[in-house]
Amino acid sequence: MTRRVRVGINGYGVIGKRVADAVALQDDMELVGVADVVHDYRVRVAVERGYSVFASAPDRRPAMEAAGIPVVGTLDDLIAGAEIIVDCTPKRVGAENRERYRAAGVKAVWQGGEQHEVAGYSFVAQVNYAGALDRDSARVVSCNTTALSRVMGALHSRGWVKRARAVLFRRATDPWESHVNGMINTVIPETKVPSHQGHDLQKVIPDLDITTLAGAGPHNLSHIHFAMVETTRPVSVDELRDALWAAPRIAFVRASDGLVALNSVVELMRDLGRPRSDLWEVAVWEDALAAEEREIYLTFQVHNEAITIPENIDCIRALTGFERNAERSIEKTDAALGVIKAFLPSTTAPIPHLVPDDGSKRNRE
Ligand SMILES: NC(=O)c1ccc[n+]([C@@H]2O[C@H](COP(=O)([O-])OP(=O)(O)OC[C@H]3O[C@@H](n4cnc5c(N)ncnc54)[C@H](O)[C@@H]3O)[C@@H](O)[C@H]2O)c1
Repeated sequence: MTRRVRVGINGYGVIGKRVADAVALQDDMELVGVADVVHDYRVRVAVERGYSVFASAPDRRPAMEAAGIPVVGTLDDLIAGAEIIVDCTPKRVGAENRERYRAAGVKAVWQGGEQHEVAGYSFVAQVNYAGALDRDSARVVSCNTTALSRVMGALHSRGWVKRARAVLFRRATDPWESHVNGMINTVIPETKVPSHQGHDLQKVIPDLDITTLAGAGPHNLSHIHFAMVETTRPVSVDELRDALWAAPRIAFVRASDGLVALNSVVELMRDLGRPRSDLWEVAVWEDALAAEEREIYLTFQVHNEAITIPENIDCIRALTGFERNAERSIEKTDAALGVIKAFLPSTTAPIPHLVPDDGSKRNRE
């Protein structure tokens, strides 16, 4: 039997529970268990799924056990049994665990809420997988930075980007905590200008000239980005479409198909039976792509809860060296999760010049 990398998850929230499910789906990974500090329904789901549950803080263990959770050990026990920990604790808590992971000699993956310096490497699989090979740690960048990296990476790798600007309209809160956080009937602009995401993206693509502005609105279903890219030469809409089509984890949606808003794309994910309605791809509105002499324009949806999950899986393979080739890891992860290029392949007209000669359906999958 092939060896499996032993993975532990610390923090079983929005990101941690999804990473745990994704790890459990990989045939080259074993989920050692998940650790957390709460004892309500959120962690009890882990028990229903058959995952071993650990107490991240020893003083939380009695309450977890009193709630009926069969706690099998402490965070140190989880660390001792794992080769790599994916830290999905809240922003800044992750950084506090760094010394603990290092001292135990376990590899670590952090999330975008932590600073780049925590790991010294900011990861997006299709841009910089190779640089993460065999490292002790890496940070999977935030949802917004992941989406920008995929889209801008596809354009930048062709030498098209002279200067990029993007406006990020963020969700107010995540669905699970909409009863405690959020806003109504308003929009809050970020007063830190430019917003941090452009700078963060330069940790992944250092020579990309990009400026971002951000704000948040009273919705909880995902973010939407509006990007304007000044190009080094005139780029047609067809070229732009082809570049996005060629990149992994970017998929088109069309308003002409009724996919007119964030909620309709999420509804499509529900109808496709995706776990938690997750949209792992960046959903680019194909009928909102536009180009003129000096600039190209893109509008895309970023499902903040889901988009970084495939990246976490690839990051585990890169750090442990379990797969040394980025494309192979991406393909493997995408096949296991169900990440696709066309959401409605049976009824979507193929792009004629992208149909391969052998007649296979490569361009529809
Ligand atoms: N929610 C998003 O949209 C999103 C997207 C991308 C990246 N991120 C990043 O992922 C990380 C996790 O965010 P999240 O949204 O999953 O948070 P979350 O609040 O949903 O989950 C955090 C989990 O960690 C647990 N926890 C709290 N303190 C802990 C401790 N000391 N030890 C162990 N567990 C502890 C909480 O009980 C909770 O279950 C952050 O860095 C965040 O910035 C979040």
